[in-house]
Amino acid sequence: MTKLIAGNWKMFKGQREAAVFCRELRDAELPADVDVVVCPPFPSLALAVQALAGTEIGVFAQNCHWAAEGAFTGEVSAPMLQELGVYGTLVGHSERRQWFGETDDLVARRVSACLEAGLHVIACVGETEAERDAGETHTVLRRQLAALEADDNLVVAYEPVWAIGTGRTATPETAEEAHERIKELLDVPVLYGGSVKPENAAELLAQPAVDGALVGGASLELASFAAICRAAAVAATV
Ligand code: 13P
Repeated sequence: MTKLIAGNWKMFKGQREAAVFCRELRDAELPADVDVVVCPPFPSLALAVQALAGTEIGVFAQNCHWAAEGAFTGEVSAPMLQELGVYGTLVGHSERRQWFGETDDLVARRVSACLEAGLHVIACVGETEAERDAGETHTVLRRQLAALEADDNLVVAYEPVWAIGTGRTATPETAEEAHERIKELLDVPVLYGGSVKPENAAELLAQPAVDGALVGGASLELASFAAICRAAAVAATV
């Protein structure tokens, strides 16, 4: 099965840097048998859509509100993103949950409204270190997934919070076990996220229940992002 590699730029790359990166990405000759997505911050979305037009690389936002419009200061809507040519959006990233008070309920509202509007969605779930240490991983995943329904345009990203930006990656076995659990609860493709790098991508992506990766830091440099895409293409053939 074709693997999906999504680069979450977080709050990096304004228009100028995004333009340079997208030009490099166009020229990088990424393998054809991997689906590639980038998730720039809002101000760089329009530029990324234009710069990557005519390629197979999809542009996703990092968040999206459930209403089409309204008095929601600081938010953007699915129709606004679609007008720019944006293909999908992340929802419920742990940084949104941790720093901006996103609850499971808000995440579920965003996910279902975005899907209904026709956006593709990567919904993020994952336990904190304290939750894993307390043996609550499965309970947390069940709670986070409870309000979501399978959909052809929905992908889940399993991002254990203790592995994000820490350099501490889940072992392939830990990721596989969590992915299997998620798939029992919701029959959708599941990406792994959390310190994915060229050095560990191949063994993570070789796991049967790992359908791709959501990459943070290593998606900001072309060399590392392209190396992860190549590892995904190889893993899909095994
Ligand atoms: P890192 O790859 O930098 O750990 O970030 C993972 C992540 O949060 C992707 O959404």
